[in-house]
Parts: sequence; structure tokens; C-alpha cells
Amino acid sequence: MSGMMKAVRLHGFGGPEVLVYEDAPKPEPRPGEVLIRVHAVGVNPPDWYLRDGYRMLPPAWQPQVSFPVIVGTDVSGVIEAVGDDVRTLAVGDAVYAMVRFPDGLAGDSRAYAQYVSAPVAHVGRKPAKIGHPQAAAAPMSLLTAWQFLIDLGHDEPNPLQPHRHRPVPLAGRTVLVNGAAGGVGHLALQLAKWKGARVIAVASGRHEALLRDLGADEVIDYTGTRAEEVVRGVDLVVDAVGGPASSRFLATLKRGGALFPIFPLGLDAADEARDLGVTVSATQVRSNGAQLTEIAGLLDDGTVRVVIDSSFPLADARLAHERAAQGHIQGKIVLTVD
Ligand SMILES: NC(=O)c1ccc[n+]([C@@H]2O[C@H](COP(=O)([O-])OP(=O)(O)OC[C@H]3O[C@@H](n4cnc5c(N)ncnc54)[C@H](OP(=O)(O)O)[C@@H]3O)[C@@H](O)[C@H]2O)c1
Repeated sequence: MSGMMKAVRLHGFGGPEVLVYEDAPKPEPRPGEVLIRVHAVGVNPPDWYLRDGYRMLPPAWQPQVSFPVIVGTDVSGVIEAVGDDVRTLAVGDAVYAMVRFPDGLAGDSRAYAQYVSAPVAHVGRKPAKIGHPQAAAAPMSLLTAWQFLIDLGHDEPNPLQPHRHRPVPLAGRTVLVNGAAGGVGHLALQLAKWKGARVIAVASGRHEALLRDLGADEVIDYTGTRAEEVVRGVDLVVDAVGGPASSRFLATLKRGGALFPIFPLGLDAADEARDLGVTVSATQVRSNGAQLTEIAGLLDDGTVRVVIDSSFPLADARLAHERAAQGHIQGKIVLTVD
């Protein structure tokens, strides 16, 4: 099992140019882990947060990073080897995973590579009918949408609020999804439709045809219309853009409704929410292979489609991060691995 592989590593923080495609030690699976031969990698915001030194986090939250470090969390591939005590997955199984999140925030997830080792509990069976690029694009965004909207799936403490995050009923309800064309947003839209909600999608106008195709009942182009000025009486807002500006959506909710900010840092809405009789709740996505195996059926039968914005070879990860920095991502950016 010893040897070298190609990986994308950081030797310091900075812009996309600090992503270096180079030789790195090939990992070995420890007890409880599998070694995945990676066919594709999904690109997510934490990849560039790490690359950039987590400057978006409060200093006390910034993980200590030891260089060199391999970036990335999400993969799809085939199991190459298993740790001694692994019984549930076997060599040759096709799998997809979000590896060690959030435990690997300091760079211990190591997905931008030809091989990654992963705790077996983080690894799900890959949907058989979609390709590795689509499967690799799914885990973090899909688990985020699933854990916010369908099933939290764990009892770990919530770093974002004192209480456990609880999904709310969706059938027959009206759900507004902001950032609806992005990674989390386009999957949250589809899960809400699957559960029987009416969905208002907020995004820039270029995404309208896609959002209607994915099931949006109404599309609001935020470049021309402020959703918070025209929408009233919704049951749930999923804000996949988030930040302090998320509080503007409180006005769109009916009493008893809920705001789920996917990126809640900087949001201070507790007093206003209490006055309006609405709930604000968030959670941090956690690795969960069992949930990925469960959701695979929805990806296989086309209930949930993973949209690919763009694809780059692993060696060109820098170009993928440059694409991400331009914003307006439609779906997901992926890296393909030889
Ligand atoms: N809580 C968690 O554990 C968790 C998990 C995953 C992600 N996140 C966070 O959630 C956020 C979204 O992640 P993502 O992967 O979905 O990002 P993404 O793929 O970059 O999607 C962001 C989307 O927002 C749209 N957008 C940008 N400005 C907007 C605005 N003013 N109004 C409406 N839409 C706007 C963008 O396209 P257009 O502008 O063209 O519409 C883009 O499609 C990130 O901040 C990420 O860190 C949190």
C-alpha cells in the first residue's frame, strides 16, 4: 500500500495560485477506514475557506493548519482497500463521501487526491445510475440540504446554537429558497418539492430556466426584485446565501414560520424573530455515510438531479477555484481524477 500519488496541496494560505498539484504520500486505511481510489472530487466553499486561511471565521474558530495540507472533502470513487475491522464495505464497491467534516477542518479530509482514506461511517454507496462527477458533486451540498430539511441524523452538540436543529414539515407548505441555483440551493429546492412543498426560488435571472426545470413554482430574479418586499406568508425560508443580510427574510414569514440560514455567521435576528413569532435555526453539516446511502435512491431515480456548473482535471484545481471566485455558480464545480 505504500507509495506516492498525485494530490493538490497547500504550502501556505492565499489565492487559487497556492493550490499545487504534486506528489504526496498515498494514505493507508487505518482500522475503521476504507481507502478510496478517487474518480472525481466535488468543490465546496470550505475548500477555499481553508485555502484562504479561514479568514471568514472569527479568530477563535480558525483551525490550526500544519502545511503541507491536501484540500477538499467530497469524493466519488471505488474502494481500493479496507481496514482490518471493516465489514460493511468491500474492495471494488463504488462509493461517495464527504470525508471527516467538520472534524477535518484543519485539512484532515484530504479529498483533492488520487486516493483518500475515510472513516467507513462517512462513506455511502454511490448511486449506480449517475457518473462519478455527479456523485462527487453531491455529498456536502446534499447532506447540508438533507440535514437542514429532512433529518439531522445525529445528536452531536450544535456549534451554531444551544439547541438541536429541527427540520419542519414541508408537505403543502410554501418554501422560499434564496441562492436557489447554487450547490446547496438547487438541492434544497428539489428536496422541498419531493416532500410536497410549493417553492419560490430566488436567484439571478440567468438561472430561471434551470430552476423551473428543477420544479420551482415561482422564480424571483434578485437583480430586479427584492424578495423581501414582494413575498409574504411563507412557511419556511432556506437562505443558502446567508450572513447578516439573512434577517431581511423574516418579513416574508408567517407567524409560526422558520428561517434556516445555511451560513448563519454574523446573523443577529433573535429579538426580531421572537417579536414576529418565527424560529431561526441552523446547523453545521456532518459527515454521514448512512444518509448518503439512503439518498442514493433519489439520485438514481432522478428525483434529485445534481447540476454540474463546470468540470476541471484535478491538476487544474486552481482554475476551478478561479471559477468559484467569479460567483454565480449554477450547481456544482467538480474535478476529475485520472
Ligand atoms: N451550515 C453548513 O454546514 C453549511 C454547509 C454547506 C454550505 N454552507 C454555506 O452555505 C453557503 C452556500 O453554499 P453553496 O455551496 O450553495 O454556495 P454556491 O454554490 O456558491 O451558491 C451560492 C449561490 O448564491 C447565489 N447568490 C449570490 N448572491 C446572491 C444574492 N444576493 N441573492 C440570491 N442568490 C445569490 C449565487 O448565484 P446567483 O447570484 O447567480 O444567483 C450562487 O448560485 C456558503 O456560504 C457555505 O459556506 C454552510
